[in-house]
Amino acid sequence: MNTYLILQNPGHNRVYYNLSGDMALAELGLASESLGSDCKGIVIKNIKGIRYVSFETKEDLTAGDIQIISNLSFVFAIFKEEDCNGVLSLLPIERSVTEYIDQKISSLLKYAGKTNELFTKMMINVALLASDFDYNSQIRLLDPIAGKGTTLFEAAVYNFEAMGIEIDPKSTHACEIFFKKFLEEEKYKHQADSRRVYGKNKTEAVFIKEFEYAKSKQEFKEKSNRKKLGLVTGQSQDADKYFKKNSFHLIVGDLPYGIAHGNTSDKNSKSITRNPYQLLSQCLPAWSHVLKEGGTVVIAWNSFVIPKHKLSSLFQENGFDIVNEGPELQFEHMVDKSIKRDIVIAKKKLS
Ligand SMILES: C[S@@+](CC[C@H](N)C(=O)[O-])C[C@H]1O[C@@H](n2cnc3c(N)ncnc32)[C@H](O)[C@@H]1O
Repeated sequence: MNTYLILQNPGHNRVYYNLSGDMALAELGLASESLGSDCKGIVIKNIKGIRYVSFETKEDLTAGDIQIISNLSFVFAIFKEEDCNGVLSLLPIERSVTEYIDQKISSLLKYAGKTNELFTKMMINVALLASDFDYNSQIRLLDPIAGKGTTLFEAAVYNFEAMGIEIDPKSTHACEIFFKKFLEEEKYKHQADSRRVYGKNKTEAVFIKEFEYAKSKQEFKEKSNRKKLGLVTGQSQDADKYFKKNSFHLIVGDLPYGIAHGNTSDKNSKSITRNPYQLLSQCLPAWSHVLKEGGTVVIAWNSFVIPKHKLSSLFQENGFDIVNEGPELQFEHMVDKSIKRDIVIAKKKLS
């Protein structure tokens, strides 16, 4: 039996690190189902005062397994436990991370209401791991409540095509300015285009700002090599008006908590509601329309405001199966006194 030990990424948020042990177990638990090697005994282990996530396999991890594990949000370093004449030693395993764009992109912008970038990476990972797709599929991801773009940037790191919808024009503007500056400073060849995606007249018009980019001029020349990141300034419940049917593999987002942000879900009113349930119930038909079969939605929300079973039922009524019902796949954790964050992983049923 092989024992592997993972040192968790301390990130720059101590509170998140302290809370993230159980989430790491859940993320690895989901990933273990995609590994070639049979993976068991996933636990937290303390060795000489240092916390590790430990697991056992019968066979050595394959290159594909190491790629899946390396991409998990909490992974900082991977070791294999070795017994050298009765002395425990840790053999480092070379990580194999997917990183088209430098991972630093999602930690540069700081603002109130930003979703923790490691948590965001975790949501993308579990969405992919629970779906019928993998890192080698040409993934198209939608964040339908995109804020200033943390999910879009994390998706771009993975070389996914990333699209967002955000109702607040100040947020979309800040995201666009930041991404343009990032591409310029990091010397990506790029172009940006703004076009109408909906509306017959000026008052109805909804626009997308779409970036096409590539690492070099040479790569950019070939249209099929270009990566895309786009953001619609519009309403999430109209996602099906902005994007084609079955055009996304994954939908990942962090619902408004009703604390730092408003949830302007009522089409006829600009009033702020504190309940994400109403927003989600209005959005799910449109999200389901643009999501491929076998695709997944992963949504974070404040479970103080609404219990998980209510959100789960809403997904089920809209043709989804809930993936994270069992006790081993729990992601709920305290963020602060008023926010207890949890996620729903929902997979679109085959028709
Ligand atoms: C928790 S924030 C997302 C933060 C984002 N993950 C980030 O790190 O920047 C939720 C976002 O949902 C947006 N929102 C609320 N109602 C919306 C709607 N009906 N359509 C689109 N976006 C909406 C809010 O403006 C807010 O930016």
